[in-house]
Amino acid sequence: MASTQDFYKDKLILAPMVRVGTLPMRLLALRYGADIVYCEEIIDFKILNASKVENELIGTVDFVLSDDTVVFRTCPQEKDKLVFQLGTSNAKRALKAAQKIQDYVSGVDVNMGCPKEFSIKGGMGAALLTQPEKVKEILTTLVKGLNVPVTCKIRILPKMEDMLNLVKTIESTGVSAIAVHGRYKEERPRHTNHDDVIKVIAQHIGIPVIANGGSGVIKQFSDIQAFRGSTGASSVMIARAAEWNPTIFRPEGKLPLMDVVREYIKVAIDYDNNYTNTKYCVLQMMHADMDIEEGLKTLSTDSLQDISEVWGLLDYYTETRSKFEKKRAEINTLNNL
Ligand code: FNR
Repeated sequence: MASTQDFYKDKLILAPMVRVGTLPMRLLALRYGADIVYCEEIIDFKILNASKVENELIGTVDFVLSDDTVVFRTCPQEKDKLVFQLGTSNAKRALKAAQKIQDYVSGVDVNMGCPKEFSIKGGMGAALLTQPEKVKEILTTLVKGLNVPVTCKIRILPKMEDMLNLVKTIESTGVSAIAVHGRYKEERPRHTNHDDVIKVIAQHIGIPVIANGGSGVIKQFSDIQAFRGSTGASSVMIARAAEWNPTIFRPEGKLPLMDVVREYIKVAIDYDNNYTNTKYCVLQMMHADMDIEEGLKTLSTDSLQDISEVWGLLDYYTETRSKFEKKRAEINTLNNL
């Protein structure tokens, strides 16, 4: 029987990314070859405050706040590949939040690497790296209380002894894998990733290690294997290189960015992704090519329809919206029977 650890072995993974890792980007990454996709970090409070809604119109399950903000949207197509990343500083709250979504995902991950002030002040993210007892409590509670595998994503610590103690503590909780971003809390993406530290970690623990932090050197598919080799890790997790072009996961090579952006927008239309998130992701993809006409024009859009028009997808948008209207009428008729 396959163990929960096997799920994380020898995999290419879309990293958790706030605002970027929403449903359209996850589906696109899967289409282009990612084995596993993480959602953006979602804080436990938000999931606890959200209501679950079956969205029949687009075939998704949504977790929605009282002001209609969709905190988390997922669909059956990604369920077997999806890991939900939780932001938390409290074991009981983490468990309650994770229990609410566990039927819709294949794993739950705890963010222990975010260096942002919001996370650190709340005792979340990288604040946990120096609190091994809290880490133990959160992960043990989740491992015992959930029926899906649990993992965590960390940054590295300055002292190797502390680092190894921490990962051994993490391993002892029964988690199925550990993702390691090879940078210290204070380091930024421009700093070189410490592949050598990931390698030492991989040599000292038995659970799969997922190497992260390689986007500076991952320009094409073959670079992913080179990064895996230099970290000695079982799997590779990619953030920025996938944010810029999710076809980085394609063994046959990346596709032209303009085509990929169009595909992204189509999926965003299919899943009624909100326009601010769609615009943000399009602009992130275009970041290095902002002088291209479509990129500049995207800056001044203020609806999904506008974005579709800029990218030559107005017909696709209009047809999809009229399909939605038809389906909405059918659903209303059925509900009134
Ligand atoms: C991130 N990162 C991140 N990490 C995490 O654990 N949870 C999150 O929600 C986010 N959000 C996020 C948003 C964006 C836009 C970026 C670029 C990054 C960090 C990310 O997962 C990863 O650890 C780093 O970017 C290093 O990996 P790469 O970019 O070198 O592949």
